[in-house]
Amino acid sequence: MLTIRPFEIDDRDEALAARTELDADDFDFLLGYSYRRGFDQYLEQLAAHEQGLGLPDGWVASALWGAFVDGELVGRTCIRFELNEHLLQVGGHIGYGVRPGHRRRGHATEILRLSLDQLAARGIKNALVTCDEQNTASARTIEANGGVLENIIEAGGRRTMRFWVPAS
Ligand SMILES: CC(C)(COP(=O)(O)OP(=O)(O)OC[C@H]1O[C@@H](n2cnc3c(N)ncnc32)[C@H](O)[C@@H]1OP(=O)(O)O)[C@@H](O)C(=O)NCCC(=O)NCCS
Repeated sequence: MLTIRPFEIDDRDEALAARTELDADDFDFLLGYSYRRGFDQYLEQLAAHEQGLGLPDGWVASALWGAFVDGELVGRTCIRFELNEHLLQVGGHIGYGVRPGHRRRGHATEILRLSLDQLAARGIKNALVTCDEQNTASARTIEANGGVLENIIEAGGRRTMRFWVPAS
């Protein structure tokens, strides 16, 4: 069974390994992580961001959680509790990634489902979830959760598909 939860200090090595693995997809597994500050401080930063504290300019309150199957880190989700102008255009409410060795087992579909539950618990009924037009796997993940395509927008030389997904 897949679960999502905040990272803990014992997740450090696996989380950093996953970060390196997802570099190949140009996907930032540990958004905002800094080697100089280290994992302990990163956990404090994540906890603050969940409370909406210490946010960098342009960020909103969000939860970056790991996804685990039988205790093994298989992916992560970033759940944003509100949308600003940028998120409304391209970023959306939820961003997820699955480690290469764990793909095509339905994990992204389940990660998105559980992330939607977190938004629903905060009263958000419809979530915006976006992906690059070329990202078939992500588009299917969104569709598997009931996503309805609103439009495709062009920004920064990329075409982004914008879906609304029922959260409750
Ligand atoms: C996109 C990603 C999260 C999918 O993870 P996953 O765990 O393999 O996805 P799932 O197993 O839940 O599969 C979801 C759907 O995508 C399909 N799929 C998965 N990989 C695929 C691929 N390489 N090509 C085509 N379809 C694919 C699955 O068949 C499934 O479709 P179905 O429900 O119609 O059968 C993963 O490839 C990834 O982490 N990519 C890099 C980061 C990224 O792109 N994140 C999304 C940013 S918007």
